[in-house]
Amino acid sequence: MSIVFDQQKQLLTLTTTNSSYQIQIDQLGFLHHLYYGSRTGSQDMSYQHLAQDVAFSGNPVEYRKSRDLSLDIIPQEYTSFGIGDYRVNSIAVINPDGSRTAGFQYVGHEIVKGKYAIPALPAAYDNGDEAETLIITLCDKVTALKLRLYYGVFEKQDIITRCAEIVNDGKAVTTLEKAASVCLDLPFGNWDLMHFWGKHCLERQPERNPIGHCITTIGSTRGMTSHQQNPFIILCDHEATEDHGDCYGMMLAYSGGFKAEIEKNQINSVRAVLGIDDTYFAWKLEPGESFHTPEVILSFADGLTSLSHNYHRFIRHNICRGVHHLQKRPVLINNWEATYFDLDEDKMFALAKEAAALGIDQFVLDDGWFGARYDDNAGLGDWFVNYRKLPNGLDSLISKINGLGMKFGIWVEPEMINEDSDLYRAHPDWPLTDPGREPTFCRNQLVLDMSRKDVRDYLYDCLSRLLSEHNIAYIKWDFNRCISNVYSHALPTDRQGEVSHRFVLGLYELLERLTSNFPNVLFEGCSGGGGRFDAGMLYYTPQIWLSDDTDAIERLTIQGGSSYGYPVCAMGAHVSAAPNHQTGRTTPIYTRGVVAMSGAFGYELDLTKLPASDKDEIRRQVRQYHQDEELIHQGLYYRLTDVTKGYYTAWQFVSEDKSKSLVNLVITGPQPNPEPLHLRFKGLDPDTLYSIEENGLSVSGAALMNSGYTFPRMAGDYPAAQLHLSAISAL
Ligand code: GLA
Repeated sequence: MSIVFDQQKQLLTLTTTNSSYQIQIDQLGFLHHLYYGSRTGSQDMSYQHLAQDVAFSGNPVEYRKSRDLSLDIIPQEYTSFGIGDYRVNSIAVINPDGSRTAGFQYVGHEIVKGKYAIPALPAAYDNGDEAETLIITLCDKVTALKLRLYYGVFEKQDIITRCAEIVNDGKAVTTLEKAASVCLDLPFGNWDLMHFWGKHCLERQPERNPIGHCITTIGSTRGMTSHQQNPFIILCDHEATEDHGDCYGMMLAYSGGFKAEIEKNQINSVRAVLGIDDTYFAWKLEPGESFHTPEVILSFADGLTSLSHNYHRFIRHNICRGVHHLQKRPVLINNWEATYFDLDEDKMFALAKEAAALGIDQFVLDDGWFGARYDDNAGLGDWFVNYRKLPNGLDSLISKINGLGMKFGIWVEPEMINEDSDLYRAHPDWPLTDPGREPTFCRNQLVLDMSRKDVRDYLYDCLSRLLSEHNIAYIKWDFNRCISNVYSHALPTDRQGEVSHRFVLGLYELLERLTSNFPNVLFEGCSGGGGRFDAGMLYYTPQIWLSDDTDAIERLTIQGGSSYGYPVCAMGAHVSAAPNHQTGRTTPIYTRGVVAMSGAFGYELDLTKLPASDKDEIRRQVRQYHQDEELIHQGLYYRLTDVTKGYYTAWQFVSEDKSKSLVNLVITGPQPNPEPLHLRFKGLDPDTLYSIEENGLSVSGAALMNSGYTFPRMAGDYPAAQLHLSAISAL
């Protein structure tokens, strides 16, 4: 039983293998957050006296008799609003009478087997006997606004999921102006905040700073998760390392704008609130209606590596779905960086033929195959083949590619529309635009109003026709601009504050229809590279193109930064041309292979123009990847060096049974009189003797982890090395 209620003490204790979480219902029905951290069993944590009289903190009427109680001090599960807690709030409402106060007090709770689902939103799932759910119901006595807090406890996975539901049980319309998914109060400790910032072509750069006495906001107002920030944060002890120290992860499973607020108050108590972005948000709740927030995936672990492992396993097994998520992924060749828009049947077939000869499994036809798409000015929305480029249609190309023994995949960008398209000419009111105002363009395109059913039905028709009429095994689902002019021509004036969230719900509905009706198609997400890389998308697309930056050296931080929260099997990673198209840097093909192999692997360059030596190397890489894929995708991932700096970057995979390991090292720049390339390996069995394939050595796990291993000096530009370790015998 991972959720236990102690009736006498009014304590709810949630337990996972390595963590405990405790809530207390006080005499007045307010929920106190007593503890989240290393396992403390059934210990009643209320002995930690958190109540005190702090001047200028409010006491709701119920607390007046005991002046040492204040909601401004007490750690909470989810805040009320306007009754004396002045820290960042979880909720903001406009009541029917115009007042803005909401005070939530306990009504009841239930504990049920299995994991709750969230209507119309992605949520972690239970594979059978993995989870228990706690639902706590609270109510505002004056307005009859109900708040339900959901907790999914995945004991073995060390994960607790949370979300909230707000129900209008009153008699008139209430407006929600903010509805966060989670509030996490950490009353004691000295915390750093880690977050993952970036830009197009350099996503998820890890940054770690001490939390100061202020409110730090991390988020996206772009209507998408964004390249700039990711909806995943870590609060870790100031002393925490990869190997030890208290670490809390908070990951929002949502693909729209989001907001994380982290506050340290006057008594050094830290609060983190995470949920959907409230910049454009105003949601009308009619009597009887509910609003569900997206899910937050919480994990507590000792050390950043263990925290990452918890998320990697959980995303692989409890978020990603479908026939592909645990299967071997095809190695693909994508034509984008090989030809850009300049495609025709002969060129594509020549590229596919070369790829097939090198052992590549799947060909992907990227942007430019449809409508009047000769550049990025036109065609989005017209999901019909361009017969000027492909006069024999798609089937002729697909059957020739299938004839090579390869699967065929195709690129689409369904949520977008160009003004120069038949779709726009027929439906000028389908994109998001403000009445009477010129819209903002980005990459010459507008964003379709996904909150509209007619828009979604049109897209479903186009895409389901594409998938049922042609032998397509894979879809790359792109999204190449941020949202602006957030106005729907199908919604009334007083519901325009719902558009940005309804957009995301519309996207999810379309993805759900397509992925459930075409279960064998592998969907890969994309957004100008990794602008929508989140657990919400991973629920529908088990892999996402990680970045438009394919430079192997820059990829070390992009992949390494992403690895804090996301598993490598979710990261689309390709070997591209040298010099690299984004940075102009030249790296050896071997190094490019080492880096891209730590992902959902593929190629994106003109194979027909490569020297024979490069082709030989690609043939070898594809063979190696097939051999190592299980270890890479299902194994435990260790960051062996800082991914943001240093002369070399190294990382390691170890199989769960510790019998196999792959160590990767890349030199990131020149250094005179270089330092020794020394690493301590991780995760091995100390009492096992391992053979190292590349040099014939046999060394114990204990030696490799304690004394380590020094690679021989490597010369040249950006060299790399890999070591394969196999267990030979117990010591
Ligand atoms: C985005 C993607 C690229 C490519 C182009 C096509 O930038 O990230 O991989 O598909 O669009 O326009």
